[in-house]
Amino acid sequence: MFPRRSIVILASLFLLSAITLTVHQIDKRSPGFIGNLVPSRPGKEGQDEKEIEETTGPCGRGIAWLAKTDLEYPISYAQREIIVHPTPGLERKSMTKITEPLFPQPKQLLLDKESRLELSDCKQEALVLEVPDTPTTPVNASTMHFGMATTLDRLADSTPMIERWLAHTSAKLFVVIITPAANEANKKPQPPTPKQLSARQSELRKRGMDITLLPPLQHDESYTETYFSLIRILHTHRSPGTEWHIVIDDDTFFPSLRALLSTLTPYPADQPHWIGALSETWWSVARYGMMAFGGAGIFLSRALAETLNTYYDTCTGEMHPAAGGDERVMRCIYNHTDVKLTNIPRLHQMDLGGDLSGVYENGRFPLSLHHWKTGRNDYPVDKMSQVSDVCGECFLQRWRFSDNTVLVNGFSIAEYPDGVEGIEWDRPEETWESRTVEESVNEGTWHSLGMGRKALVLGREKVQWRLVDAG
Ligand SMILES: *[C@@H]1O[C@H](CO)[C@@H](O)[C@H](O)[C@H]1NC(C)=O
Ligand SMILES: *[C@@H]1O[C@H](CO)[C@@H](O)[C@H](O)[C@H]1NC(C)=O
Repeated sequence: MFPRRSIVILASLFLLSAITLTVHQIDKRSPGFIGNLVPSRPGKEGQDEKEIEETTGPCGRGIAWLAKTDLEYPISYAQREIIVHPTPGLERKSMTKITEPLFPQPKQLLLDKESRLELSDCKQEALVLEVPDTPTTPVNASTMHFGMATTLDRLADSTPMIERWLAHTSAKLFVVIITPAANEANKKPQPPTPKQLSARQSELRKRGMDITLLPPLQHDESYTETYFSLIRILHTHRSPGTEWHIVIDDDTFFPSLRALLSTLTPYPADQPHWIGALSETWWSVARYGMMAFGGAGIFLSRALAETLNTYYDTCTGEMHPAAGGDERVMRCIYNHTDVKLTNIPRLHQMDLGGDLSGVYENGRFPLSLHHWKTGRNDYPVDKMSQVSDVCGECFLQRWRFSDNTVLVNGFSIAEYPDGVEGIEWDRPEETWESRTVEESVNEGTWHSLGMGRKALVLGREKVQWRLVDAG
């Protein structure tokens, strides 16, 4: 198969960004890692991005990107172009060993603001990687109806992420727009007007997202009441082809609706199914129960959605006032049906603290991700998953190279100075923090992530560069 031109550029930019970021972090974490100093300057004054690219080739695009960022100079810079070959019959492997280095010498350039990148610095031969032949076009997911409750402002923050998984899929998303809580700046927040809702809705639809914005069913509902009302709202808006009613949070992200749909195939929608994921944290499971945790997505088959709609008023009437949204769904199901949870651990509530690298870098393909914006650690899932446009389910696939470097596609590049041979790659690196349950055998995340391996010391045993941007 011939390499695809567009593919080359995207893959290369992805890499470049990752490495550029690195630089930033290397300075703080491991000053010994920076290589050759080469005089260079990112383009002439006034040169635009296209011009730079024309004169410098693929290297130029990255340089133009660098000039737009506010990274601290000097910047340590490395670049490698990747060409992917979609290979029919090739399975997505958790880790693939490549016998050449990711960055042949010299792999690092140190750029300062006044210097110029030489063309010869970008003359590295492209790397060819074989990837599974998964489609990169949007799937027809018209059988899926999603529902969420959020404010207009939060919806705006999440729009780039929602656009990535929802646009042009024929799946529908119903969003109940709630009024933001009062705060210092806004003591009496007003609900958005119907005009505001319809203006926003048409903006979103113009971008290919089949989104319907709705006011809450009742005035003065609490958030959890609105959340539970999605059961009724999704039922009201169902169409003959709707198979799945899916309740999500505004920060739930789906790397591939295609993969999600095929995961649901074994569960016929005319039978009652409640599908989701337990929290990764045993403590949360012990606290809340065997339920589909909301952030990972709550999947109700058409048959179960029908039953829950019948019990909607009953469940609302008997609801424990402090119950959370996903907990309300659980209470209603356990009290009025004999349906039990189907747990799919590849859906992720991401109920973990600290550095989530160990989850993103475990080589598995996640069906949902959540909490990409945690304040302390941000995970730009919309940028990270752009690499799916190039090679579908290659997102978060891992390749390890002879220079003790591992590429986790779309997330990170890490160097392991003590070598990569002794590392148990099948076990997730326990970089995260999670609560434990006293006297429980389960140390915290076994039921979800499996038994892990000890976290490495960043900057010494593992030098990690995280993706910050892609385009
Ligand atoms: C998606 O599938 C549905 C049901 O088969 C069909 O009615 C609809 O036209 C399809 N949409 C697209 C864009 O192909
Ligand atoms: C279960 O349903 C019954 C009958 O509707 C109700 O009286 C009871 O309070 C419910 N229990 C819980 C825990 O919600």
